[in-house]
Amino acid sequence: MALRNIVTIPNNLLREKSREVTEFNESLGQLIDDMIDTMFRADGVGLAAPQVGILRRICVVCVDGKTVYELVNPVIVKQSGEQVGPEGCLSVPGRHGIVCRPRKIVVEAQDRTGKKHTYKLEGFIAVAFCHEIDHLDGTLYIDKVIEEA
Ligand code: NI
Repeated sequence: MALRNIVTIPNNLLREKSREVTEFNESLGQLIDDMIDTMFRADGVGLAAPQVGILRRICVVCVDGKTVYELVNPVIVKQSGEQVGPEGCLSVPGRHGIVCRPRKIVVEAQDRTGKKHTYKLEGFIAVAFCHEIDHLDGTLYIDKVIEEA
């Protein structure tokens, strides 16, 4: 495992649309392991591949310090309700803002082997998933801030 450099605004890589992962090989596993390492070292609860300069549809999320979700080609297939709360981003250092997100979501994603999973999420972890999946389309939380925190 190795730490990767985290790209910060205004780097244009953060504004690109990431491409789907089609090869589930060793280098994908290596990248995911590096992303998990980098997320923990930076004290983050999530990290998306474009944040380490790789324009592929991959993100990792861990909101409790224990359970790590690795999402390859994630898609939000259902969402309901809303919740409002503070967010920050490792690519936007030193800032926070209040964002409105769905309260409940269902996400379909593959893992590093290509196996498909369905995740039903509610509360803060749903926020973390939405935030990271947004990165894959070049969207940052600062685009959605309704109030500075
Ligand atoms: Ni972020």
